Amino acid sequence: MPKIILDTDPGIDDAQAIAFAIAHPDIELLGLTTVFGNAEVDITTRNALHILDVFGQPQIPVARGASDPLTQARYPAPDFVHGIDGLGNVDIKQPSTAPISESAAEFIVRMASEQPGEITLVAIGPLTNIAQAINLDPTLPGKVKSLVVMGGSVSHPGNVTPLAEANFFNDPHAADLVFSHDWPATIIGLDVTLQTVLRDQDLAIIRDTAGQAGQFLWDTSRFYIDFYASRLARLGSTDRSCAMHDASALVYTVLPEAFQVVSGPTRVITDGIAAGQLSVDTQQEPYVIPAWSDRPHTSAAIGVAAPRVLDTFLSTITNHSFD
Ligand code: BDR
Ligand code: CA
Repeated sequence: MPKIILDTDPGIDDAQAIAFAIAHPDIELLGLTTVFGNAEVDITTRNALHILDVFGQPQIPVARGASDPLTQARYPAPDFVHGIDGLGNVDIKQPSTAPISESAAEFIVRMASEQPGEITLVAIGPLTNIAQAINLDPTLPGKVKSLVVMGGSVSHPGNVTPLAEANFFNDPHAADLVFSHDWPATIIGLDVTLQTVLRDQDLAIIRDTAGQAGQFLWDTSRFYIDFYASRLARLGSTDRSCAMHDASALVYTVLPEAFQVVSGPTRVITDGIAAGQLSVDTQQEPYVIPAWSDRPHTSAAIGVAAPRVLDTFLSTITNHSFD
């Protein structure tokens, strides 16, 4: 049974991922750690607490994390994707609980030290908290069971620049630092998350079967679906659907066989017009610069059995009683 700490910037698709982590019978969700990204960290932390209220799990601890990237200035939040409130401009009530006193990095380090080899860290926002946790305890990569990251892309174009995916773009220095360490890490990037698509009819089934949580997932996804629909319309499509970015990383923890991966020394470009670009060196040639040599291998997904991943997501959410 994967014990998971979920590092997140909720975020409409983060809420879908949290729902899956709560609903899957084989996942024990030990806590949420929050980070800036889809909104400022005060907002993503409030959202995490609110989501746990709505999903009937207010006892799960929430540790507030980084408000800014490690090195660079923070980019404006993508309110045109996730809404001003990060959750599609729905009605968000005052949460019933507050964050714990530990920071996200402190929580991750303590939990991994108390349960060595048992915890899977799943990061679905900028990697700032994970980098800060490594800085706090450089032995962390040897203490976790695995790290699963939603971010980057191996060969698909980016979603914020032609080269960069949003989570890596928002803190490329943190991402490059994380992959400089040797841990069993897998990247679930745009190559696969864009292939697994939640359609409006799927979200309607969730709304009609998953109680208050289902209604919340439907309500929050309206803004996100509208954003995707406007992009699809430019390509001549009338589809109403969205990519299952963050939940794909959670599905990977219980269904890794549905993903095809490559591996190699991994860099994330930190500066210039390629900032945020992922580069997994699958060739390992003797290059003229040593930037990839002596880096540990990281796995990155390049293929996915999308119908299987989607079925797993839908059946998990619709078979669970959230109330
Ligand atoms: C990633 O960026 C965020 O907007 C989403 O929540 C997801 O984690 C997709 O590029
Ligand atoms: Ca996210």
